[in-house]
Amino acid sequence: MSHPRHFLNLRDAGGDAIAAMLNDAIGRKSARKALPKGEPDADHPLSGRVLGMVFEKSSTRTRVSFDIAMRQLGGGTLVLDAASSQLGRGETIADTARVLSRMVDAIMLRTDDHAKIEEMAQHASVPVINGLTDRSHPCQIVADLLTVIEHGKPLPGLEVAWFGDGNNVLHSILEAAALMKFNVRVATPKGYEPEPEFVEMARASGSIVTLTQDAAAAAQGADVIVTDTWISMGQAHAEEKLTAMAPYQVNDALMGRAKPDAIFLHCLPAHVGDEVTQSVFEGPQSVAFDEAENRIHAQKAVLRWCFGQL
Ligand code: CP
Ligand code: NVA
Repeated sequence: MSHPRHFLNLRDAGGDAIAAMLNDAIGRKSARKALPKGEPDADHPLSGRVLGMVFEKSSTRTRVSFDIAMRQLGGGTLVLDAASSQLGRGETIADTARVLSRMVDAIMLRTDDHAKIEEMAQHASVPVINGLTDRSHPCQIVADLLTVIEHGKPLPGLEVAWFGDGNNVLHSILEAAALMKFNVRVATPKGYEPEPEFVEMARASGSIVTLTQDAAAAAQGADVIVTDTWISMGQAHAEEKLTAMAPYQVNDALMGRAKPDAIFLHCLPAHVGDEVTQSVFEGPQSVAFDEAENRIHAQKAVLRWCFGQL
């Protein structure tokens, strides 16, 4: 049996495959513009395939976009959550991986500890897709790249500015910077920087990564302004963290420092009034809902890559 194509991090696919995914997503999205959302694409490329989606954390976009993505590719899905499956009663990841591999054609897992998804991949004989861990969120970033390109911004040389918490979403942005050759300014409070491994990966590939505590400097002349919740799933609502994050709120003053045609990205769910003001979130530069819709088109491309079609 050939080794399954897992998608645990963007580097598993590499830059050429990510570029192929983005092209595929753009083509498929445009080809099905007039179709109802649940109608399959004309070629049904994943006809007969089933994706098992395992959630150990909440989700709206990831769950719905993968479900609709599979329908549009001609396949189907099923959902397992920790509370109502044996995973929640202590069945091991290894056994769950082996059982699901006999029953479904691919597994999407959203979990906390990244080691769990590595264990799932190690024991699965079908592709395993990272639907978010505490460490990374690669599927989100394929949708983000698609959104950036759609808004007329080529990736090489792009200046992306991140504000707030150095979290899982930022880690995947840094990985994307390494693979797609763009630069990232990271403005976080002291102690909330991203993990060095992701910064080093981007720098080693030639991307310029600036780590700063100066939000205004990070925004200056940027093409893309991006933020995320200050408190990720599973984290405590610590007052100390919220206070530290306050100077990194994306507001009109910050947006005003970016290029006039800069776009604002947020993976959602948003906490308007915390990491972003109402005026920016609802403003003309915000493309957060294009980004959310693009989860479908991006996930279709990820799935096709996992099944060896890209
Ligand atoms: N952005 C994102 O992954 O959203 P959900 O948590 O709703 O899946
Ligand atoms: N950083 C957030 C992303 C949610 C999609 C979290 O992990 O909760």
